[in-house]
Amino acid sequence: MSDIEMRKQRHIRLAIEEDVQSDVTSGLEDARLIHRSLPEIDLEEVSTGIELFGRRLAAPIIISAITGGTAQAKEINATLASAAEEFRIGIGVGSQRIAIENPSTAHTFGVVREGAPSALVIGNMGCPQLSLGWGAKEAQRCVDMIEADALAIHMNALQEAIQVGGETRYRGILTKVREVVGGIDVPVVMKETGCGVAFEDAVKLEEAGAKGLDVSGVGGTSWAAVEHHIAKEVGKRDQEALGESLWNWGIPTAVSIVEARRSTGLKIIASGGMRTGVEMAKAIALGADAVGIAKPFLQKAVEGPEALKEHIERILLEFRATMFLVGAKDVDDLKRVPLVVMGRTAEWLRLRGFAPEDYSLRRF
Ligand SMILES: Cc1cc2nc3c(=O)[nH]c(=O)nc-3n(C[C@H](O)[C@H](O)[C@H](O)COP(=O)(O)O)c2cc1C
Repeated sequence: MSDIEMRKQRHIRLAIEEDVQSDVTSGLEDARLIHRSLPEIDLEEVSTGIELFGRRLAAPIIISAITGGTAQAKEINATLASAAEEFRIGIGVGSQRIAIENPSTAHTFGVVREGAPSALVIGNMGCPQLSLGWGAKEAQRCVDMIEADALAIHMNALQEAIQVGGETRYRGILTKVREVVGGIDVPVVMKETGCGVAFEDAVKLEEAGAKGLDVSGVGGTSWAAVEHHIAKEVGKRDQEALGESLWNWGIPTAVSIVEARRSTGLKIIASGGMRTGVEMAKAIALGADAVGIAKPFLQKAVEGPEALKEHIERILLEFRATMFLVGAKDVDDLKRVPLVVMGRTAEWLRLRGFAPEDYSLRRF
C-alpha cells in the first residue's frame, strides 16, 4: 500500500476511534431563533428544498468531503452516495489527488456519481496541489472523474503546517485559483477544513471568481487533533505537541458564516460541528445557503447504510420542526427570520466590526 493510501486509512480510523473533536464550540449555541407561538403555517406545509449549483436538493444538506482512494474508502463512498441519492441531498468526495497521481484508484471516487446519478456532487482538490503545479487541466480531470457539478478546492494551511514535510507554500495561491476558475466548466467552491474563513479572505476569494465558500469552522472535527494522533503513532514528538497546541485554532463556524455573508455574495456552505437540524436552521438563519456534515456521516456510514439513513432522517425531522416553530415555510423564509446572538459569539463579531443590526435584528 502506498504512503498516501495508508494516510487515507489512518484518517478514517483516527477520526472514528480517537478524540478529534475541537474543545471550542461552533458558536451556534449562542444563536437563538425566536420561537413563534403562532407560526401561521402547518408543519406539513414546510418545504426544505433548495437549488444549488444547478441541482435541486430536497434539503440544504451536503455530505462533506471525506474520502476516496482505498478499498475501504470506496465502500464508504458507495454508502454515502446511495443515501445522497435517496434523500436528494448533496455529496462531496475526499481529495482526488490520489486518483490523479494513480488513475487506477479513480473508481473509488467514481462510485459516488454511479450511486448518486441525480445528486449534487462536488469534486475535491487542495491548495497544496496548486502550489505543486496543478492547474485547470488537473482540476478538470477531477471534475470529469465524477461528473461533478462543482469543484471544491480545500484550504488546509493548518494541517500542512503540522504534518512532517507538509506543503506550506501558500504564496500566490489566489492567482492559481483564478486560473482554475477560468479554465474549468463548473463553479469553484473554496473550502476550509475546520479553521473557518475570515471576511478578508472571503472577499479575495470572491474577487478571484469562486462562486461558493464552505466555511468549515471551528466546532467540529479538528485537523490539528488528527495530525496530533498521527504524529503520536509515528513517534514525531514535535508535531505531536504542535497538534495539541493548535487543537482549537481558528474561527468558530457561526462567526465565519456571518463574516462571509455580510462581506460577499458567495453561496455559503456552513460546516464544522454541524450536528443537529436545529443547528442547521440556525446556520441558515445566520446566512448560510446549505450546511455540510462530515464526521457523523462517516461514523454512521461505517456502521452501515441503515444507521446512516436513520441519522439523516433524524436531522431532517429536527430541521423541519425548527422551521415550523419559527414560522418559516421554506428555506428563503428561514433566511429572513429574526434571531439573537449572545455571549462569546456576539462579542467576537462585535470586535470584528459586525453589529447586531447587521445579522440579528434587520428582519424585524
Ligand atoms: C476522515 C475525514 C477526512 C476528510 N478529508 C477531507 C478532504 O479530503 N478534503 C476536504 O476538503 N475536507 C476533508 N475533511 C474535512 C470535512 O469535509 C469537514 O470540512 C470537517 O471535517 C468539518 O466537519 P465536521 O465537523 O462535520 O467533521 C475530512 C474530514 C474527515 C473527518
